[in-house]
Amino acid sequence: MDSEHQQFVLETIRNVKIAAAHSGNWFAIFDRDECMASLDPVTWQDVDDPDSIERLARWREAAQNSFPAIFPVTLEGTRRWLIKQVLELPDRLLFWVKSSEGEKIGHAGIYRIDFEEESLELDNVVRGMPRVMRGAMYSGVQAILSWVFGTLRMNDVFLRVFSDNERAIQLYEHCGFTETMRMPMRRVEEDGVVRWIEADGGYRKPIERYFVTMHLPRATWQTECTDELVA
Ligand SMILES: CC(C)(COP(=O)(O)OP(=O)(O)OC[C@H]1O[C@@H](n2cnc3c(N)ncnc32)[C@H](O)[C@@H]1OP(=O)(O)O)[C@@H](O)C(=O)NCCC(=O)NCCS
Repeated sequence: MDSEHQQFVLETIRNVKIAAAHSGNWFAIFDRDECMASLDPVTWQDVDDPDSIERLARWREAAQNSFPAIFPVTLEGTRRWLIKQVLELPDRLLFWVKSSEGEKIGHAGIYRIDFEEESLELDNVVRGMPRVMRGAMYSGVQAILSWVFGTLRMNDVFLRVFSDNERAIQLYEHCGFTETMRMPMRRVEEDGVVRWIEADGGYRKPIERYFVTMHLPRATWQTECTDELVA
């Protein structure tokens, strides 16, 4: 990626974190003729919004098993995480997935931009409100992909998901992602925190789960989009 493109990507992300909160439905998601959900960036304004922090904490707690670290979730810790691990990181951005009534029903984001390869990871896909707007998370991920390939002009999107997370894998396959590799993982517990870490060559116990990398190249995404429009 040339330095101009890199600067554009980082500036776009930074501006979205600051300014987009005023815009309401920042990125409407259309399902056929009906506007069914929208994306709204998580911004600096969310840091001081108790409802946002409470949702992020509650949803994280409910989805613990889907992430490599399982720890006691607190409101203060979540607020700190939002500042230090999301908003202050130049290549990380989280979006609320909102219902047509504007209720926050989940979130999904982008992270770990590889500027050489012009690729990034889909990050933190979580449905917080079950049974509200079936298909909203699929639409939310599609909207992010559209922005990532269209506006940020990335070539590839990757993600990592545990091999036993069938629901998530189904969603990602539906979006066109395919598996590229799987890493054997082992469980370690220390001071009340459970972590799933890579099992190295010396590990001899049965492997309970793998961390699967999935990939969506721009060309596949474009083909899938065209097929969906034609269908
Ligand atoms: C992974 C996760 C986000 C998937 O959420 P979800 O509710 O299954 O996703 P959607 O909102 O897209 O809903 C999918 C359902 O809508 C249906 N649907 C309706 N319209 C659809 C459309 N246009 N496209 C796709 N699915 C559609 C699907 O068929 C599916 O139906 P089913 O429930 O009968 O299988 C959710 O399970 C979750 O939050 N899990 C915990 C956190 C987690 O594991 N995150 C992933 C970390 S890698």
